[in-house]
Amino acid sequence: MPEVASGRFQDKVAIVTGAGGDIGREISLHYAREGAKVVVSDVNPAAAEETKAVIDAEGGESLVVQANVMDSESVKGMVETVIDAWGKIDILVNNAGIGERSSLLETREEMWDLIMAVDAGGVFRCSKYVAPEMIKAGGGRIVNIASLMGMIGMGAPSYTAAKGAIIAMTPIVAAELGPHKINYNTICPGFIVTKLNRDMLESGVGDQVIDKIPLRRFGNTADTARLVLFLTSDDADYITGAVIPLDGGMGRFLDLGEDYRTYDPFKNLQG
Ligand SMILES: NC(=O)c1ccc[n+]([C@@H]2O[C@H](COP(=O)([O-])OP(=O)(O)OC[C@H]3O[C@@H](n4cnc5c(N)ncnc54)[C@H](O)[C@@H]3O)[C@@H](O)[C@H]2O)c1
Repeated sequence: MPEVASGRFQDKVAIVTGAGGDIGREISLHYAREGAKVVVSDVNPAAAEETKAVIDAEGGESLVVQANVMDSESVKGMVETVIDAWGKIDILVNNAGIGERSSLLETREEMWDLIMAVDAGGVFRCSKYVAPEMIKAGGGRIVNIASLMGMIGMGAPSYTAAKGAIIAMTPIVAAELGPHKINYNTICPGFIVTKLNRDMLESGVGDQVIDKIPLRRFGNTADTARLVLFLTSDDADYITGAVIPLDGGMGRFLDLGEDYRTYDPFKNLQG
């Protein structure tokens, strides 16, 4: 008995880039569970096939399309393949991305260019080549996965700059696409439990990070998928141009330490 039931996304066509990765796989699976036809897109076909196998096992519908978001021709080919197969694109989730940890002085120029081309350029290219199909169809929904690191002073300059570019373009692209009934939003995950963070979480470093998160836990891939699905559902019909942190409150909380927290500035004041 398949687990797929009719749901919010019945008969919708949803492209998820980077769908072979931890977060992309979870998002793809959630769409499939809610009835969408999922385009499992990744530069790495083996990883994409693994995602498809998970969806197949639950009775969902998906199509693997290998595409490199750095390459315009490859992105255009993905759009053509989806239109040939399913005739429309209702949803695009710009999730493909690569990480980087180097400081300014350590960052190699090739790495800067690569991060900008994949993380920021990938969102640009996929949005640019998918949006015309949505315009033709009378509307659509696009969600970008940026990062908390693009909002606050944390992480590598290259990664922060690339994710910051996505955040910066969100309101203006939303303004351009809004009259075409395309909602354009960006989410900014903080620390999510993925293969990237699992080791850290199991070490003492993870505890130090958790102390800085008001909700006292890392996020998980399901937290991410739920927000993405909400933003592409009818419930979010009036939300566009939004940049939404998904970080357990971390980005708006500055911990100056125990001494500061317990310091009473009023105790020595006269009168
Ligand atoms: N893991 C976290 O804590 C976290 C936090 C904030 C933001 N993010 C963002 O979420 C997204 C997914 O992260 P993840 O942890 O699942 O990473 P991941 O490495 O598990 O998955 C990324 C996927 O993108 C694919 N990819 C890489 N370059 C590509 C290209 N040029 N074209 C197409 N696909 C490409 C990879 O093959 C991989 O399958 C990324 O954009 C990442 O920056 C992750």
